[in-house]
Amino acid sequence: MLKSTLLKAAQAGGGVLKSYFQGEFKISSKSSINDLVTEADLASEKAIIALIKEAFPDHFILSEEVGEIRMDSEYKWFIDPIDGTVNFANGIPICCVSIGVEKAGKMLMGAVYNPVLNEFFFAEKGAGATLNEKQIHVSSKAEVSNACLVTGFPYSYLDSPNGPLVVFERLIRKGIPVRRLGSAAIDLCWVASGRFDGFYEHNLQAWDSAAGSLIVEEAGGRVSDFEGDEYSPNKRQVLATNGKIHDEMIRWIKGTN
Ligand code: IPD
Ligand code: CA
Ligand code: CA
Repeated sequence: MLKSTLLKAAQAGGGVLKSYFQGEFKISSKSSINDLVTEADLASEKAIIALIKEAFPDHFILSEEVGEIRMDSEYKWFIDPIDGTVNFANGIPICCVSIGVEKAGKMLMGAVYNPVLNEFFFAEKGAGATLNEKQIHVSSKAEVSNACLVTGFPYSYLDSPNGPLVVFERLIRKGIPVRRLGSAAIDLCWVASGRFDGFYEHNLQAWDSAAGSLIVEEAGGRVSDFEGDEYSPNKRQVLATNGKIHDEMIRWIKGTN
């Protein structure tokens, strides 16, 4: 029931995303000029929450646009109704719906659906990760010097000594390819499927990383904060890799390599 509700909810949100994609919709700014919310984000969120509430009216929900729907439950849903909204608003097909579910503080299931590219990623704790129902696995590269990485930048720049631009510059000055796709959930899934060897971002929200982090772990990868400590959706820093380059990536981020 939990799995079928998660799949249905991600499909419903994805259906909404696709129906608006490259069409006409209202766009407004949130915290800054490029932190956007569109009519489609709100419609996707509404469809997702309606399905979850119908099946599990007593579950806790945290969703980007409506915030918390507080319930006294050990189940908590993390919803990003459109991750990659700037891409979506520009007709760039790197956008998705991301939904994670945790039980008693541990991620249990995650779904990330990009309906434009027709890619549905799913993972369940202990049962592996899939892309369109086929098992996926992280890459096997063992060194950052030949890795292909991906990152993202927060809407307002974090002015810290090892901030996003500093780490980015450190890596690209050494000729290491670092891409910026604009959807953290997709970045994570592309690490899980071996397209990238690692992903890091300094300031993510729980709904950006909850589903994707489990998908990476279940695909054989490792997810942590920048200290190497256990991932939690409540942590802002996320480092996700194939596992093999993880410790080296921590040194690159800290500038101690
Ligand atoms: C954003 C994307 C982006 C990341 C930002 C997020 P949104 O989410 O995941 O890749 O760099 O930090 O806020 O606004 O498109 O849902
Ligand atoms: Ca997001
Ligand atoms: Ca979003």
